Amino acid sequence: MILPGKTLGVLGGGQLGRMFAHAAERLGYRVHIYEPSADSPAAEVSAHAVHSLYTDLKALEAFVRACDVVTYEFENIPTESLRKLESAAVFRPKWQILEIAQNRLREKTWLRENNFPHVRFAECEAGGNLAEAIRSIGLPCVVKTADFGYDGKGQQKVTDELSLGRAVASFKGQRAVVEQWVDFKCELSVIVARSTAGETRCFPVAENIHTKHILDLSILPARVAAGIQGEACAIAEAIAERLSLTGILAVELFLADSGELLVNEMAPRPHNSGHWSLDGCVTSQFEQHVRAVTGLPLGDVSLTAPSVVMVNILGDSWKWAGDQCVGEPDWTVILGTPRAHLHLYGKKEPRPGRKMGHFTVTAASAEAAIELALRLKAAL
Ligand SMILES: Nc1ncnc2c1ncn2[C@@H]1O[C@H](COP(=O)(O)OP(=O)(O)O)[C@@H](O)[C@H]1O
Ligand SMILES: [Mg+2]
Repeated sequence: MILPGKTLGVLGGGQLGRMFAHAAERLGYRVHIYEPSADSPAAEVSAHAVHSLYTDLKALEAFVRACDVVTYEFENIPTESLRKLESAAVFRPKWQILEIAQNRLREKTWLRENNFPHVRFAECEAGGNLAEAIRSIGLPCVVKTADFGYDGKGQQKVTDELSLGRAVASFKGQRAVVEQWVDFKCELSVIVARSTAGETRCFPVAENIHTKHILDLSILPARVAAGIQGEACAIAEAIAERLSLTGILAVELFLADSGELLVNEMAPRPHNSGHWSLDGCVTSQFEQHVRAVTGLPLGDVSLTAPSVVMVNILGDSWKWAGDQCVGEPDWTVILGTPRAHLHLYGKKEPRPGRKMGHFTVTAASAEAAIELALRLKAAL
């Protein structure tokens, strides 16, 4: 057990690291951040920060040696670096899990090999025949880059011969995954924690609404039958077990029109669809992550209100004149509303599509929470 007072290292300095640091420091831990860029949301609120590349083994080794445990808030860390430092650090979750989750092809292959329900896919190796891979899956489908994808970047839907040709031209022989298009009732996510002792605990299931491939709204609890929620949790727990996870893991799922639950993605770190837990749950996902990686007992995951809705605040909410930012949203809209909570990540430069913050509302029913959330979003 790594007791309060010890030092927790985080690889990555974004908003997830910032909120992790808040939770860790509240429990009396010191947080060190490792982040390539000089200005980062997490470094600003942590005891110490190192700015260097993830391939700088010397800096990375000095960093991990100063920490009692090292975790991640960012997925695309070269695991080659982590493998070389294995004897110098305690990585939780173990880096092998990061390696699976950071690459779509490895992730989907792992799901298939371990018999978890997933979306049918075909692989296209670098320089391979993408058109053939697309035809093997059938239309409609979606082509995704194998590496470094987030918020829908590097994805193209293919519905006909024309879009097929466009996809082949734009992927230019890159390694890709071709996935069957899933018509779904809704998207769900489950965050599961697994302790050093092997105990697992799931947060309530979130229903997620994406706009332009970016998470827009999370609704808690998800408006699906209890049986579906139970099934989603059982899948997440079984994945955590199979991975021998220590820490938290977010599992994104589609509830297909057929009624089937299919795993879309996994992330061994706090997740955007768990931000609601800061205001709507006894224990936040960030505190749960701290507890899980330090060996503390896992926290209570009960909702603190009948319904919670989280809304992402993107740079689009700033005032723009062409591509010039000319003003910020009117925060008093949220700050002046009871049961609304504003979180800003301290990012200096707003950009369309960039996650700048989020807000949460709690209410007595899903209808009331959604109505209030959408009204505040529009008023921003
Ligand atoms: N096979 C699919 N069928 C239907 N919708 C999809 C499919 N793949 C992705 N999407 C939509 O695009 C969103 C982003 O895709 P995802 O695979 O989660 O990538 P990212 O890494 O960008 O989050 C999903 O949340 C979903 O709304
Ligand atoms: Mg996703």
